[in-house]
Amino acid sequence: MSERERREAAPPADVTAWMRRDWDARGGENAKYYINTSEHEGFDFALSGCRDAFEVLGHLHKELRHDMRVLEIGCGIGRMLQFFGVLFAEVHGIDVAPSMVEQARRYLARWSNVHVHLGDGRSLTGLPGDHFDLALSFQVFQHVPDRQVITDYVRDTFRALRGRGLFKFLVKTKPWAGQGRRPDTWCGVDVSRADVDHWLSLDPWQLRSAYDSDDPSKAWVVLQKP
Ligand SMILES: C[S@@+](CC[C@H](N)C(=O)[O-])C[C@H]1O[C@@H](n2cnc3c(N)ncnc32)[C@H](O)[C@@H]1O
Repeated sequence: MSERERREAAPPADVTAWMRRDWDARGGENAKYYINTSEHEGFDFALSGCRDAFEVLGHLHKELRHDMRVLEIGCGIGRMLQFFGVLFAEVHGIDVAPSMVEQARRYLARWSNVHVHLGDGRSLTGLPGDHFDLALSFQVFQHVPDRQVITDYVRDTFRALRGRGLFKFLVKTKPWAGQGRRPDTWCGVDVSRADVDHWLSLDPWQLRSAYDSDDPSKAWVVLQKP
């Protein structure tokens, strides 16, 4: 099935089954391409992970410590996890797609402090509570077609972080060119400041920042557990 057919196919009633079906197919077809469409070949792919790890961590640099426990939600094949593995004591990635998880485990086999988990697509079930110091998500929620899934992740991340833990994640804020009438597993839902306020009303997060990214269709959100 082509990417176009995949996106036009009837979505399964269960949104997590839909995300798993489509992302498992993308991972099986050409994981590096769907993770980074413009830099998927050779060293370009690995180096893009180094650059994006810097983008994710850069402005938090004063709060980072080598002994931190770090979690990446939607880790793909571990493009950035390998660099987190160099920097931090304990690193975990979780992803909805079995094909991505399988490749990540091979890609990261050298890193004994990096662990990859197959998730249910909306929670961190199976990962401990009060455990992580830093949770990150990069170029994942922009592909999620149901806002409630993002809300569920934000809530479960509150459980998984320990006190003063940070959650930094990128969201899509505007429709993309060529986007269809309804969100799908490529062009996900747009997130607004009202959504951030909703998350703040559900758990006692502190809002550290909600700022635009270099890409005008996306924004970073940084929340902290008190
Ligand atoms: C564009 S890739 C980005 C991968 C990684 N964050 C990176 O930057 O290298 C999006 C990833 O999110 C995963 N994904 C999509 N929906 C997800 C969900 N609901 N829960 C967890 N992972 C999801 C996909 O399987 C895919 O591996």
